[in-house]
Amino acid sequence: MKTILISGGNSGIGLQAARDLLADGNRIVLVGRDPRKGQAALASFGTAADRASFLAADLSTHDGVRAVADRILAEHDRIDALVHSTGVFTSQESRTADGLHPFFAVNYLSRYHLTQLLLPALRQAGRPVVLMMTAAVPPTDDADFARFPEFAPFDFGHDRKPIQLANHHYAAHLTRTEPGLAAGVVNAGAAKTDILRIAPWYMRTSAKILGPVLFDSVETSAHNVVEATRRDDWQTPLYWGKPGRFEQHTPITLNTTTTEQLMDTSHTLTGA
Ligand SMILES: NC(=O)c1ccc[n+]([C@@H]2O[C@H](COP(=O)([O-])OP(=O)(O)OC[C@H]3O[C@@H](n4cnc5c(N)ncnc54)[C@H](OP(=O)(O)O)[C@@H]3O)[C@@H](O)[C@H]2O)c1
Repeated sequence: MKTILISGGNSGIGLQAARDLLADGNRIVLVGRDPRKGQAALASFGTAADRASFLAADLSTHDGVRAVADRILAEHDRIDALVHSTGVFTSQESRTADGLHPFFAVNYLSRYHLTQLLLPALRQAGRPVVLMMTAAVPPTDDADFARFPEFAPFDFGHDRKPIQLANHHYAAHLTRTEPGLAAGVVNAGAAKTDILRIAPWYMRTSAKILGPVLFDSVETSAHNVVEATRRDDWQTPLYWGKPGRFEQHTPITLNTTTTEQLMDTSHTLTGA
């Protein structure tokens, strides 16, 4: 039985991945912010809830990440897979307690920080897997990282690409530095979930109108992350760009100097 941690597992695509991986007989640890959604998720698993648990955490702050990592390590010696499905969608200016923009703190830095802290447990697995959900962002070297990590004032149109691409750089870094570990980035596609809850009204309205025609099902959006967790026949690091199409992927090959600069900054910010 594998132990699979899904951050953002109390909602949307992460919750669907939890259902699919529970059905395989795995043990699932969900991490999310809202405890009511966590308890509702557990209740929805029926008898499989025996193999599931939920930890509430605010992953937008360094302290929140550290606190939940301590609890996870106290309860689990080995983690076979870590799926990062946490995310916020906001174009507004705002700052976390650490002075960072929440889009950066949740959609990238919490993934780096939590994974780094959980490496001792991941290293106990035969072939540990780390997967990060993003929007459709193919691995390319054309992003501008000059504003990393402050992104102040936040400019969603400009800043979302480097923030999401930092995940790809982290997958490349993990592959280089952790022998035997497989890391990948998965495009979530467009699925009807809670992700747009704090998005601007015009986006929520267009999603309501166009969603039924254009949206992927959550099952399709979760498919690649579920397959990448189940299977051990893929080359790391990979990017899956088409929801529901596990065989279609792109190797992540990025400028290593940029990768190490981003990792140095992430280390300086978190200490991990
Ligand atoms: N759905 C789409 O069309 C779409 C498109 C592009 C990218 N994505 C990405 O796909 C991933 C899954 O999103 P989703 O669509 O499934 O949306 P979702 O249902 O809103 O799930 C997002 C998850 O992130 C958690 N989260 C947000 N802020 C957090 C924080 N500060 N601390 C801890 N947990 C936090 C949420 O927990 P709570 O619910 O408890 O707050 C929730 O479990 C995200 O990375 C998202 O950016 C989705």
